Amino acid sequence: MSDPTPITEQAVAEAVDAALAAISAAGDSTALRAARTEHTAEQSPLAKLNAAIRDLPGDQKAAAGKLVGQARGRVNQALAAQEGVVLAAEEQARLAAESVDVTAVPSRRRAGARHPLSLLTEAMGDVFTGMGWEIAEGPELEHEWFNFDALNFDEDHPARAMQDTFFVEPVERHLVLRTHTSPVQIRSLLSRPLPLYVVAPGRVYRTDELDATHTPVFQQIEGIAIDKGLTMAHLRGTLEHLARSMFGEGAQIRLRPNFFPFTEPSAEMDVWQPNAKGGARWVEWGGCGMVNRNVLRAAGIDPEEYQGFAFGMGIERTLQFRNDMNDMRDMVEGDVRFSQQFGMVV
Ligand code: PHE
Repeated sequence: MSDPTPITEQAVAEAVDAALAAISAAGDSTALRAARTEHTAEQSPLAKLNAAIRDLPGDQKAAAGKLVGQARGRVNQALAAQEGVVLAAEEQARLAAESVDVTAVPSRRRAGARHPLSLLTEAMGDVFTGMGWEIAEGPELEHEWFNFDALNFDEDHPARAMQDTFFVEPVERHLVLRTHTSPVQIRSLLSRPLPLYVVAPGRVYRTDELDATHTPVFQQIEGIAIDKGLTMAHLRGTLEHLARSMFGEGAQIRLRPNFFPFTEPSAEMDVWQPNAKGGARWVEWGGCGMVNRNVLRAAGIDPEEYQGFAFGMGIERTLQFRNDMNDMRDMVEGDVRFSQQFGMVV
């Protein structure tokens, strides 16, 4: 056993001074708890002094007891006082952190976001309404006649197989999930007076598996213009205007000969994307051409009097190029975090 601590006034005063210094330095309840342990608990100097009283000769016990008792009293008082100060400060901080601005507008529900494809569809439509075009719609469950026959696809023309079609039972009804928005060309020709300038955005269906670059449901925007004296120059100018609105002032259009039964001549349309992330590039954007005379005739229009052009492009592809997205699946999965990157426009 170690020697009993001698109970001198100096030893007591030192223990008290050290305790009071630690207590007043304790700025929060954790520090204060540590000070309490260090200066009043079993192994503390004051506790040892207190314990040493037991071993004193009987006539010294009273004086020593008074001395140590008063010292402990002072320390306990200081602890209590500092505890009041520290707890009040902590309460104050907690209230400040939890404070609520009752005048702020509440947001009880997480706000959603409109889908970027909807926003882009609208933006593309706006380019055309800005030029005086109208927006049209057609059914997604379409009669084969509108989807193919009226568009000059022969009964067993290989072009029918160009687009892998969902046929809807019973097959005798000849209904298909439309494979493109071009049937809206026919519906517009049959229902609107000339001249006619119409764009038709909407969903189309093909029997593709969902992967990074295909989805069985996607969207196109179709355009058709019928007027007197329209030429491919008008087609080109229209597409160039759309390209610049979508991809910036430096965008250009390139047409490559192609085949569609409902246009003649027909072209594949590429767009020069000047601000693409990996550097400027040509990307394949859609199809276009001068409306085939057979299509005009089928709609009761005299091709000698009226001419027209048509075009169609994928909206998902447009979003992919514009926003440098690699995976088509992000567009169909409906994760709001994807949509939120495109802003919260409502
Ligand atoms: N409908 C064609 C397609 O889906 C695109 C197109 C539209 C081509 C209009 C020419 C004119 O591939």
